[in-house]
Amino acid sequence: MCGIVGYLGHRDAYPILIKGLHRLEYRGYDSAGVALLTAGDKLNIYKSRGKVDDLERFCESKDVSGTLGIAHTRWATHGEPNDINAHPHFNASGSLALVHNGTIENYAVLREALERHGCLFRSDTDTEVLVQLIDYIRRSTGCSTLDATREALREVVGAYAIALIDSDDPDCLIAARKSSPLVIGVGEGETFIGSDASPLVEFTNKVVYLKDDEIAIIRRGEPLQVITNDNRPSQIDIQELRLSVAQLEKGGYPHFMLKEIFEQPQTIRDCIRGRIIDGRRVQLSGIQDNQEQFASASRIVIVACGTSWHAGLIGKRLIQELANLPVQVEYASEFRYSNPVVGPGDIVIAISQSGETADTLAAIKLARERGAFVYGICNVVGSSIARETNTGTYIHVGPEIGVASTKAFTGQVTVLAMLAVSLGCLRGTLSDDAAAEIARGIQSLPDLISDALSVNDSIKTLSATYTYVHNFLYLGRGYNYPTALEGALKLKEISYIHAEGYPAAEMKHGPIALIDNELPTVFIAPADELHEKVISNIRQVKARGGAVIAIVTRGERSITEIADHTIEIPAAPVCLSPIIAAIPLQLLAYHIAVMKGRDVDMPRNLAKSVTVE
Ligand code: AGP
Repeated sequence: MCGIVGYLGHRDAYPILIKGLHRLEYRGYDSAGVALLTAGDKLNIYKSRGKVDDLERFCESKDVSGTLGIAHTRWATHGEPNDINAHPHFNASGSLALVHNGTIENYAVLREALERHGCLFRSDTDTEVLVQLIDYIRRSTGCSTLDATREALREVVGAYAIALIDSDDPDCLIAARKSSPLVIGVGEGETFIGSDASPLVEFTNKVVYLKDDEIAIIRRGEPLQVITNDNRPSQIDIQELRLSVAQLEKGGYPHFMLKEIFEQPQTIRDCIRGRIIDGRRVQLSGIQDNQEQFASASRIVIVACGTSWHAGLIGKRLIQELANLPVQVEYASEFRYSNPVVGPGDIVIAISQSGETADTLAAIKLARERGAFVYGICNVVGSSIARETNTGTYIHVGPEIGVASTKAFTGQVTVLAMLAVSLGCLRGTLSDDAAAEIARGIQSLPDLISDALSVNDSIKTLSATYTYVHNFLYLGRGYNYPTALEGALKLKEISYIHAEGYPAAEMKHGPIALIDNELPTVFIAPADELHEKVISNIRQVKARGGAVIAIVTRGERSITEIADHTIEIPAAPVCLSPIIAAIPLQLLAYHIAVMKGRDVDMPRNLAKSVTVE
């Protein structure tokens, strides 16, 4: 989703801003823009539909001087992606420039009121309303830009991260946030801002995560100042950023997604590091420190979106089976508006790679308001969800840049497996030996994933056969029904091929009508107690002329004889099999998308972190 970069210091701002925008491209966007304040205090604003490269081309013949600037990548919400709707937006005199992430929900009412006072609008955006409102307050009261910004932010309803510059105050950069992330990088005589830490990483490792309702005042030659919307000073907590430039680059791979798929042996090693003791016990500090809550809980509610929701479905089975605790899995977007029955005694687990998903954040806030204890499973350290939850576990898989989630999914399921073992032991539903067996299985995951990755070449060959089909069906049962959903999501989001995931046995209740020689079905069929039943589902597809690609446990014979293609994965404990089965599904989606010439890392219309409703 939209990205913000800002700079105030002693260097030329433009190259820093452009590099920062490139770092934020992974979030998804459709236009870009930059505002720079020249040495003569002239505010230059350049905007362009399309990619950051298009903006750079547009700026080639322009004055891009200045040591203060803000820049933006826009993911359209209000108004189509075009040059006018792109950020930065500015006031009538062109003295104020503002970039914004999030949505101003009451923008229509505010716009109407401003129009009644003579304001003329150029764009269709909610952001222009905010900059015109700041300007209007400033003009009508004679107050400073900072006070007008504070006042305006108190009037808007919705989510925002903003950065603002004013040519009448050429040594000041103002930034603020509410429900949309903003990070400040503190350098030597220079300050950076970013929607996340990626634009700052090569300049400083000292960061401040702005909190909701805070405003940062970055003034040349002065220490960073942070106040609240109601003008009280805020505590500044400078943290050390643990992120390297190498983690943000492709490292020789053609796409981030492929790099991230191949990183999984290492990311799972990082995920379990220090959490399995003596090779037989699982220790998660979030559970350890809150034993009472988890021992007495009567149920768990999991809230998440997209891939994280699929991980939640696998978590449900794990927790129910190993800890004998009822689990409900909800789409966060539905949960927040369903007047949910949650309260004291309930544990809500929120799963989110980015830690910034607006729906999941809102679900957490609601659950906490109602007295539930909220546990977060996140990847991004210091993210909003990590901060809004009572406690939790980081998956520690490193930055995920490809829009299609891969290593975060396997990390989430690994954490859920560790959590289920830990709960089973705590609640006395899992014997020490049974826990030790699963713990050993978790420890072997990096090697099993390396082994599963060896199918890459054969999947690439197989993908050529299916590049031009229009629909795919993904079927699985038990632990691998959510894997089927995840496989279908991966394919559709990056190849734009329609794909549906279903529990295999549900096929006969409807989807079987679709089967013909133009609809291939991917069966996720590793050896488990439902294996025979899945074989009969495969026969049903074959009998109707459908092609079958089956993911099977190495050495399996019955399916190999009837399927058109089999992809072998190494044997793993059934409860961990989704982690291994996900690997060939990620590769299949990747290769088909590449063969179709899709923009794999930045598929159309998608955003990496969905910070709007
Ligand atoms: C995954 O491939 C998707 N791009 C998407 O479904 C994602 O999982 C979803 O938006 C939730 O994101 P989160 O994990 O950052 O909350």
